[in-house]
Amino acid sequence: MIDLRSDTQTKPSQAMRQAMANAEVGDEQEREDPTVLELERRGAELLGHEEAVYLPTAMMGNQIALAILGERGGELIVEQGAHIMVAELGGAAFHSGLQTRGLPGHRGRLSPRQLREAGWTEGGFWGPRASVLAIENTHNTAGGTVWPLDELRAVVAAGRELGMRVHLDGARLVNAAVASGVPPSEIAGQFDTATLCLSKGLGCPLGALIGGSRELMLRARMEKHRFGGAMRQAGIVAAAGLYALDHNVERLAEDHVRARRLAEGWAAAGLPVDLELVETNFVQLNVAVLGLAEGEAIDRIREHGVLLSQTRPGTLRAVTHLDIGDDDVEQALELVPQALGAHVHA
Ligand SMILES: Cc1ncc(COP(=O)(O)O)c(C=O)c1O
Repeated sequence: MIDLRSDTQTKPSQAMRQAMANAEVGDEQEREDPTVLELERRGAELLGHEEAVYLPTAMMGNQIALAILGERGGELIVEQGAHIMVAELGGAAFHSGLQTRGLPGHRGRLSPRQLREAGWTEGGFWGPRASVLAIENTHNTAGGTVWPLDELRAVVAAGRELGMRVHLDGARLVNAAVASGVPPSEIAGQFDTATLCLSKGLGCPLGALIGGSRELMLRARMEKHRFGGAMRQAGIVAAAGLYALDHNVERLAEDHVRARRLAEGWAAAGLPVDLELVETNFVQLNVAVLGLAEGEAIDRIREHGVLLSQTRPGTLRAVTHLDIGDDDVEQALELVPQALGAHVHA
């Protein structure tokens, strides 16, 4: 099977497993694990912040950020297809008492004007108070799209002007950095808090980082504990993170090249792919245009030996990653049009 469902499907390589087996460990909760401490030091550097905290998952990072930045009863402003909005089980309300307002983005991006309109109140004390702005880069459901740096700066500045704290869901921050040629620290350093996921394109079995000021990271450690996320000999998995930062960042460019090759090949075979949207390691296939339901299309493609997933209604997604090589791409270029063959010219 050629598994293009997500970059979360990577399995740790032999070299990464070796690094994990050799890791020096200690009690993470007591901040005695040298490997975790080193990963946090490297993470802070990469995120452009004073300090970073190692976490089991990126979603915990988002939820911790909302808990430490948000004001209970205030508003969280977010793009309406963002992971925080569509895939975190209402955590902003559940954990942090935030009312979420989802705004329609352009390729996952919001504009300063949209924020100003959303942040407007008629001056009474009863209106919602915009409290946190969360930005996603790359943006998952928009198709792995990247924020241009100037737009990002402008929207962060507008958020701050309106009195909001700003969080970056940078689950795929390094994809954005590699694709745009902007260092991750320059992107993430603008925010009050920023997360990075280690178990997507970076190929770790699990793990994430959140960065921010010393003061905020103390609060992040407290929230992490409260969520039950404080660990013990976590250096075993943190070693995978260090390995990934050393070996798996630059190579993300290869995933991006393979995604482009897939997109262009499928488009040439007559499949409805929006080539303009392919900015990183995602390719979106609009099966609705082919008159196919998503489930039916996924089943047909699976029968031909390729796994894709659904992102939005009518749209399937192929994601390239560490465990997808050139041969897999060449095969998928044959197999997917074959699977959808009868519908390609429909
Ligand atoms: C944009 C984004 N943020 C956060 C997450 C959550 O990551 P995790 O599965 O590590 O909790 C994901 C996972 O797919 C994601 O795509």
